Parts: sequence; structure tokens; C-alpha cells
Amino acid sequence: MAKKGLGNRLTQYGDEEFALYLRRSFASSMGFSREALGKPIIGILNTYSELNNCHRHLPELVQAVKRGVWQAGGLPLEFPTISLGEVFLSPTSMMYRNLMSMDVETMIKAQPLDGVVLVGGCDKTLPAMLMGAASADLPCIVLAAGPMLANQYQGERVGACTDCRRFWGMFRRGEIDDDEIGVIESRLAPTAGTCGVMGTASTMACAIEALGMMVPGGAAAPAVYAERLRIAEETGVLAMGLVDAGLSPSKIMTTLAFENSLRILSAIGGSTNAIIHLTAVAGRLGINLELEHLDRISSETPVLVDLKPTGEGYMEDFFQDGGVPALMQALGDRLDQGCLTVTRRSIRENLETVRPNRGVRKIIHSIQDPVYSSGALAVLRGNLAPDGAILKCSAATPSLLNGRGRAVVFSSLGDLAERVDDPELDVRPEDFLVLQNAGPVGAPGMPEAGYLPIPKKLKGVKDMVRISDARMSGTAFGTIVLHVSPESAVGGLLGLVRSGDLIELSVDKRSLNLLVEDDELAARKASQEPRSPQPKRGYERLYHRSIQQAHLGADFDFLRKEPEEEP
Ligand code: FES
Repeated sequence: MAKKGLGNRLTQYGDEEFALYLRRSFASSMGFSREALGKPIIGILNTYSELNNCHRHLPELVQAVKRGVWQAGGLPLEFPTISLGEVFLSPTSMMYRNLMSMDVETMIKAQPLDGVVLVGGCDKTLPAMLMGAASADLPCIVLAAGPMLANQYQGERVGACTDCRRFWGMFRRGEIDDDEIGVIESRLAPTAGTCGVMGTASTMACAIEALGMMVPGGAAAPAVYAERLRIAEETGVLAMGLVDAGLSPSKIMTTLAFENSLRILSAIGGSTNAIIHLTAVAGRLGINLELEHLDRISSETPVLVDLKPTGEGYMEDFFQDGGVPALMQALGDRLDQGCLTVTRRSIRENLETVRPNRGVRKIIHSIQDPVYSSGALAVLRGNLAPDGAILKCSAATPSLLNGRGRAVVFSSLGDLAERVDDPELDVRPEDFLVLQNAGPVGAPGMPEAGYLPIPKKLKGVKDMVRISDARMSGTAFGTIVLHVSPESAVGGLLGLVRSGDLIELSVDKRSLNLLVEDDELAARKASQEPRSPQPKRGYERLYHRSIQQAHLGADFDFLRKEPEEEP
């Protein structure tokens, strides 16, 4: 019989009885009775940090999870992990997602846990936790931090962080001054919780709910609502149910569950970052998410959710309109409703008991009346991106989706910062801005730099085609080609583009090509400077040795599970 509770994964002394006796006596020092110490243990993985504003309410949420675990007969024990606050990390939080996933996997496997509740929310924390938990494959359930509320400024609703970019664009164009941007800065993020639009954090929460790994309705309830605490309590109860049933993540996160998740991603017009994260989570389970798969699902699925940055509303409106369960009902049989979830019931059974509220604002549209009728996301291939590139059509300018443009190239983030606002820059509104060396290896860490600023000299221009091997914040918008793979720093053709070259973008044909003769490209390749040496020590060395390209989820090569491996 499997050992439960404190008897799990004993410290090695060569005497198991002694190890258990010693562990119990030390655990007793925390004031638990022998009866409490005999219960199954639910680890509550808490990503609270004072360097992560989105998680400042997590201590209260964790208390609610504990209530649920006690009610269901378990012993809740909280433990910390690395926390990734999106705007507090340099060079970029993505650099540390895999590190956090290793922390999560290792500590789940090393401690005497029967099940785990993963509590987090800021952009990289949910993916990192789920990657680690998928690899550990112990019964687990996700509790999202929940989105922050919107605020008001000069008669309009504002929130993090699509409005951050809009106001910053106005500031750059000279439409608002220093004092005003200072006031706006203090209004954009008014409460605890994750960014209040359909950015990466909200997208990942919705995608994980669609995977079946969260309480139904758990993605959209605002961080500061009582509903969020009730969801936390229910999460604790369900965690015990998963342990009793022996239901581990690999039994819930199947290929069909990932298809559901991609369909929800398309229907919410979600962040492009989710493609990389879902690919990485699936990779931990030996499931290959092909980009063409995403393109097909996206082209079959209209955008139904009217939220910023694609539409107008905020996450609190999505919650009031029923959240993910209401969206699932709108999608109907387009989802595989037979998939199992953490409730130990199927999606279909969950939806039978959910009674979504309808909000004042109509945020969730019907299939017959979509927000955006064709696919939100397009996968591009061609000589510039043989392993793929992504474009979020629903956030782009339709007239820019097909055409040819003259390249204006920036060789790095430093070069971009130095020259983009140079009055002498040779750039026209119809040009394509190209950023090199901003991929997983090149930057490093694949920062959210794909949203290149419009050069100041092009006053009044709101959008241009921009192409890079970088990512883009889920809160950004524009005609932006991202995740070009292979990236320029590992020999991708993107690194050979020179200013003045012609590039052809065709979303209709799903293609992205550099129109330069092969001889000329061969000559450029021969004269390319060698790459700078790899870092000598620490995590950076591990990162550079093992990081994979965007189409493989930018995971480390030694963490992906080969499809043929036994579970
Ligand atoms: Fe944490 Fe946006 S900064 S979710």
C-alpha cells in the first residue's frame, strides 16, 4: 500500500522506521497533533513575494485553500517557491520560467506530499508551476491569483496594461506631458491581482481552466472578490478528491485537453505567449503541439470574447458575463466536452451544474455574432521562418496583413533603443521594421520586445508591420510577426536581413519570405561575425547550453519528455 502523509519520501538514514519517527517528532514541534500528522498532506505552493505586486493577496488565498483541505480531511502545508514578478526581473522573466519549473518539480518530488495546490498568477508563474507539476505528475490543481480591477481616469476606464501602452504611445507622440503621465502611472494598477485585460496572465488562467486543471470559473473571478476566496476553498477540497482518486496531471492534460485549451485561446483572442507556454507544458508530458494544429484550430474558431487588447472590456466584465464556463457553453460541441477535469467530472458534467451570470456588458458573443470572425492567430512559414512564426491577426491592422515592404533593420535591442527615434532614420510608414537577436538565445530570454515602437519621426502612424524573433506582451497590439524560428542568433535567415531588402508577408498564404537571391544570402552568411562566447557559470550557462527554440516551447532540452517514453 502506498504510504500517505509524512511517510512519503523518507529522508535516507538506512532505517525507515527511524526516519519516520524523527520526521514525526520534528513535525510535532510545529504544534500539530498526532492525528493531524496522520492525514494525507496537501502541499500548497505559494508564489507570494514582495517583488511580485500581482501576488500580494496570496497569503489570504492560501488561508482559504487550507480551510478546504481541512474540511476534506487533509493536512495543508504551505511552502514557497521562486516568484516571477513580470516587471521586476532583468533581462526578462522568461529567462527564469524554466528555473522556476525545476524548483517546482524538484520540491514536489522531494517532500512528503500526496497532492499539490499551485497558487500563482503573474505571466510566467502559472506556466512554470504547471510545467513542473506535469513533470512531477503528482495529483495537483491550479489556483489562479485572479485579475485586478479596472480604474477610472478622466471619464474613461483604464487598467493594466493595454492602457499602459496606449498612454505611453500618446506620451511619445507628445500628446500628453510629464505631469500627466505621472498621474496616469498611479492609476493603471489599482488593486492586487494580475493584469486586468486578456494579457498573458489572464490568457494562461483561461487556458489552464480549459485544460481541466482548475475549478470551473476559476480563471476570471477578480483577485479581490469574495468569490475568489470561495474558489480557493473549493480548490482545497478538490485537491483531496484528486488524491483519493489518484488522478494525476497526465490523466487530465491529454492531447484532447490541449486542443480544448488552444480553442479557448483562439476564442478569447488570447496572448501569443500562451502558445509557447502550452507547447512547453505539453512537451513535459510527451505531447507535441504542432503549430499547424494551432493554425487549424484558430481558423475554425472565431473570437467570441470582447476584451482588451483585442476588444473593449476588462477581465471583471468577463467574470460578470460568466467567464470560461459561459464561453465553453457558447462554443458547445466545438470543444471535446468528454475531457476529464479536476472536479473528477467531465467538462460536459461541469457545464450542466454551472449557472453563469449574464453581465451588464455583453462580453461573450455567440458563434453567430463573433467579435472577429476568422482565426485570431496565424502561423506563418517561409524562408524567413522555416520552423514557424506567429501573427495575432485579431490585434492587427487588416490592411497590413498581406503585402511587401522594405526592411528597416535593428541588429539588437541596444541598436533599437539607440536609433529608433533618430530623426535621420531612413523609414517610411509602409516599411517593415525588423528586430534581430531578440530570441531565446539572442537576447537572451526572448523578451517581450516584438512590439517595436513606431519611430518618433513617423508622427501619427499607429501601426506598422514589425518582425522579430522576440515575444510580445499579451496586452500589446499591432501587425506584429513574432517567434520567428529559428532565431537570428542560431543561424536563422532573420539574422541575414539588411535594411533595404524586400520582405513579403502573406497571411492569406500563411507565408513570410525574404526576397533576396540565394548567392547574396550565402555571401552575407560567410561574412557573419562569430557568436559571442557562452556564459561561463551558473544558471546562465545552463540556460545557454539547453534552451530550445520557440516552436519547442523554449523549454530546456533535458526537461521535455520524449513521446515514446513510458509514463
Ligand atoms: Fe503580473 Fe501583468 S504584471 S500579470
